[in-house]
Amino acid sequence: MSLKRTHTCGELSEQNIGDQVTLNGWVSARRDLGGVIFIDLRDRYGITQIVFKEEDSEAHAIAEDIRSEYVLGIKGHVEKRSDDTVNPDIATGRVEVFVDEIKIYSEAETPPFEIKDGVETGEELRLKHRYLDLRRPEVQKNMMLRSDAYHSIRSYFHEADFAEVETPFLMKSTPEGARDYLVPSRVNPGKFFALPQSPQTYKQLLMVSGYDRYFQIVKCFRDEDLRADRQPEFTQVDVEMSFVDEDDIMEMTEGLMQRLIKDTMDKEVSAPFPRMTYEEAIKTYGTDKPDTRFGLKFVDFSELVADSEFKIFSKTVQNGGGVLGIKVPGQGTMGRGELDRLTERVQNEIGSAGLVYIKQNEEEGTKCSVGKFLKDETIDAMNEKAGAGMGDIVLILAGPKPTVYEQLGELRLMMGKEHGLIDESEYNMLWVTDFPLVAWDEDTQRYHALHHPFTSPKNEDLEKMDSDPSSVSSRAYDLVLNGYEIGGGSIRIHNREVQKKMFRLLGIDEKEAEKRFGFLLEAFKYGAPPHGGIALGVDRIIMLLSGGNSLRDVIAFPKNQKAQNLMDGSPDYVDPEQLDDLHIRLQEDIKQQN
Ligand code: AMO
Repeated sequence: MSLKRTHTCGELSEQNIGDQVTLNGWVSARRDLGGVIFIDLRDRYGITQIVFKEEDSEAHAIAEDIRSEYVLGIKGHVEKRSDDTVNPDIATGRVEVFVDEIKIYSEAETPPFEIKDGVETGEELRLKHRYLDLRRPEVQKNMMLRSDAYHSIRSYFHEADFAEVETPFLMKSTPEGARDYLVPSRVNPGKFFALPQSPQTYKQLLMVSGYDRYFQIVKCFRDEDLRADRQPEFTQVDVEMSFVDEDDIMEMTEGLMQRLIKDTMDKEVSAPFPRMTYEEAIKTYGTDKPDTRFGLKFVDFSELVADSEFKIFSKTVQNGGGVLGIKVPGQGTMGRGELDRLTERVQNEIGSAGLVYIKQNEEEGTKCSVGKFLKDETIDAMNEKAGAGMGDIVLILAGPKPTVYEQLGELRLMMGKEHGLIDESEYNMLWVTDFPLVAWDEDTQRYHALHHPFTSPKNEDLEKMDSDPSSVSSRAYDLVLNGYEIGGGSIRIHNREVQKKMFRLLGIDEKEAEKRFGFLLEAFKYGAPPHGGIALGVDRIIMLLSGGNSLRDVIAFPKNQKAQNLMDGSPDYVDPEQLDDLHIRLQEDIKQQN
């Protein structure tokens, strides 16, 4: 006998009163009140209360042995709950099902943690038993959000006549700046595939092939240091278009984000999104992915303090560094202890040598932590420049330029979060544009591409590629949402000569370029359309829409910070025979652990 469901556990309402129904699900909770046993039956749609009365002795006897997470089929009839037992918190809370027939499909051992929202169980244990964690309603909600997002994304692109094309996972390395995950080839001894860091080269080849509007929802693999917003395998919405410029790609992406947020969150966002140059982002927010849900924009005091008697300020400016601050409104009453603690955090967590402040409050008037060394008129001028008035505080850092921007950027975020300046319900998107094409890397003593080597320089800067590479701007753009980079792309180089020039600039000589990207350069011989594209980080977008702050919460089977899957124990050692097949020998010291 099987009891096949007629309804889900999230479906029954007062309209079903009197109906005969069959439900399938997991036991979420069981309460034995002597004569009556209640069970909360759960599936991914919701929870329904099931009632076993003593009179139905057979079913009641079975229910006595039922434990949490047993899998049941129950057949019964729907009744209205009495007013005092209505549960307004759940969709089915006005009804309950009285059992006529029950079948236990599966017994369950006591799970290592309770399957409910807001568990305090450590993440390691939850990741080890991820299939149980995935039963929890809040995790299921994220998974369903992800599923809905895929539906929305696919609809958007198909409606706009994009072709969905799959590209290989076993491929040649694409340079996105991380290490590759390599896959040895058994039938080609000594040769390796790389898993795609992105399908970058393939999507460009598809443009050469004439598929002028391409998209793909695709896994990418990068062996890099992991953070809460980085997974070794993650998903991109990858897009490429021909005969377009920056505006076309941006407009298409804005439409996608509007549609996605409407479909999944039922919220409208307005477009076009604001645009900001890379330089402005760094100078105003200290980062190329500013969280623009709140102000606290940088104020540059360098000129005002260049000749000040406070040597730390004047020396910093003379050495080409900067003295910058942020005004935090309403925090002028911060006490000595609080400011000491903040200074310590600025030193330990942010790495700045120190913190200077100017605060204004009714009791103390204007008070500057280095007031002894600064003239009153300088302090007044600084307050004025920052627009600080009674009740405000200005926090100031000094240091060499790239560093002080970065550190003040961190302090700004810290203040924004801790003083409740961020409206969590907002989706604040902006484009960051005009990135430098390349940056000088001191370690390797060469230029590296800020985006990737296929990104086009601005036409007007082409000349400077030889004479002054650092000053060349690229046609790249990043999309930022609430302080996270959720996408990046560019107009590409479609001219062989410019591409070769770019490789030369990056220190990739002709032979090396031929070896690594010969196939792409070759393809460009046969008619390459002007093209460009973007890739959006799906995991990050879903994380932000779900209100979370870790990618692990929105990926069904994520890796931990050490790129391990705690559930299946991968990566793992393999049989020596397998290595032999692959013509691979491990280093001595590693072999011993095996
Ligand atoms: P990029 O390297 O900027 O561009 O990647 C695009 C977006 O993918 C997301 N992302 C990640 N998400 C989770 N974990 C990671 N380790 C990770 N790395 C990147 C980010 C990022 O903005 N081929 C180019 C795109 C193009 O030029 O069209 C590319 O991959 O949200």
